[in-house]
Amino acid sequence: MTLFRPTRVTLRDGRIALIRRARARDAEAVIAHVNAIGAEGVHLMTEKLRHTPEEERAVFRSADGKAGLYLVAVCDGKIVGSADIARGRHSKNRHTAELGLALRKEARGIGLGTAMMRALIEWSRSVGLQKLTLGVFASNAPARALYRKLGFVQEGRLKGQVILRGKPVDELLLALWL
Ligand SMILES: CC(C)(COP(=O)(O)OP(=O)(O)OC[C@H]1O[C@@H](n2cnc3c(N)ncnc32)[C@H](O)[C@@H]1OP(=O)(O)O)[C@@H](O)C(=O)NCCC(=O)NCCS
Repeated sequence: MTLFRPTRVTLRDGRIALIRRARARDAEAVIAHVNAIGAEGVHLMTEKLRHTPEEERAVFRSADGKAGLYLVAVCDGKIVGSADIARGRHSKNRHTAELGLALRKEARGIGLGTAMMRALIEWSRSVGLQKLTLGVFASNAPARALYRKLGFVQEGRLKGQVILRGKPVDELLLALWL
């Protein structure tokens, strides 16, 4: 299975989210979504996506279900979550993939992050990946708790890698062997 089957998830507040692949017409909404979270300034390395909608559509196309996957979570007609994973492009690292995940404030702490991560992990297994990696800021307690819960372990620490609200913060490199 390399294509992703859309999944409905009941969140802890009773709302239902649909997790599905990003479509060409989602490009503007996905850019706005990532930028809203980037503007919070403390969770993501990305502050503002400089992509045009057409460039974002090219990102979706490259996440073709084999080399990668770009998922969105839609709740009450709005994109409230995005999760993407990209497989290594070289023969040396094509057993690995790097992922990222970002939810809007109103969709946090109600199980959506867990559901989106499980979807990425299931897809990763289905395409024969062996190792997933990600970077997380040491100050991001909810994200660290989520990844720990799913079995990720720390393989590295880049000291003072980012300055958040004027203070140096380490970036932790986490991995999950599948
Ligand atoms: C980090 C993020 C993806 C987590 O997703 P989420 O949907 O909020 O997490 P879930 O509700 O699925 O909870 C997963 C686990 O995280 C922990 N957790 C959730 N919220 C937490 C909080 N505020 N503080 C501490 N731990 C928390 C719990 O252990 C929870 O497990 P449980 O539900 O079995 O108790 C989400 O909050 C988010 O997108 N934040 C902003 C962007 C971001 O930080 N992205 C990740 C960058 S590496």
